[in-house]
Amino acid sequence: MAKISASVYTSHVPAIGAAIDNGKTSDDYWKPLFAGYDFSKQWAAKNTPDVILLVYNDHASAFDANLVPTFAIATGDEFQPADEGWGPRPVPPVKGHSALAAHIAQSVIQDDFDLTVVNTLDVDHGLTVPLSLMFGQPESWPCRVIPVAVNVVLFPPPSGSRCFDLGKALRRAVDSFDEDLDVQIWGTGGMSHQLQGPRAGLINSEFDNEFLDRLVDDAAALAQKPHIDYVRLAGSEGVELVMWLIARGAMDDSVSLKHRFYHVPASNTAVGHLILENESED
Ligand code: DHB
Ligand code: FE
Repeated sequence: MAKISASVYTSHVPAIGAAIDNGKTSDDYWKPLFAGYDFSKQWAAKNTPDVILLVYNDHASAFDANLVPTFAIATGDEFQPADEGWGPRPVPPVKGHSALAAHIAQSVIQDDFDLTVVNTLDVDHGLTVPLSLMFGQPESWPCRVIPVAVNVVLFPPPSGSRCFDLGKALRRAVDSFDEDLDVQIWGTGGMSHQLQGPRAGLINSEFDNEFLDRLVDDAAALAQKPHIDYVRLAGSEGVELVMWLIARGAMDDSVSLKHRFYHVPASNTAVGHLILENESED
């Protein structure tokens, strides 16, 4: 049977992708940030799964205000990097896993979560930057990736508790797939940031660090945090953090912390990162 062995959480700041693509990772500004992912790259090389369920948000690249699914799963075989206005990132196409994705769609929809099913999807920085941070610059990505897109761009985004419960439904779906696959689930976005209006540039390190603490040990209660707290305390784009609750919901209640990193600044954003393993997998 398929099994979820581990989860990765990371911010997905587009400037991180530009720093990688333009050979700037050793610049003074970027060096401390990339140092925080040295362990992660080694861990990812040793623990490369068969498939990643990559929970991210599209930033008006594939979807726009005309059509925004709250939750979508991509069932195609291959996804191209999106052109976000300055050409697509020079990264490999993402290979999907249509059999597992179709199984998840069936299982999760019949488990009362009405996912939108997408076949063709260009994937933006929300999905490709986490892959670059964990796997570097390979010729092709080392595993299959199923994009799970969440609307956190256009009001109203889904609640934290709905996200946490979706994670549990994804776990049930993976557990019932009749093929031996090592599956990871990644949650991306955050941490505190606001890109617009009078509070642009807002960072709240106290909020972020408490979120990191509680995601590990107190996730079910953390999932009850209302949207207004994210927006007030972590900025309008801080609400991306609800996506981390989907990945956490798909894990065991008690998990093993492999890596934690927090860094400011990266563009306008606080960068946070965790790697958690299911203890049952050790
Ligand atoms: C920026 C954009 C993002 O989507 C994000 O999650 C963080 C930062 C930016 O433009 O700086
Ligand atoms: Fe984002």
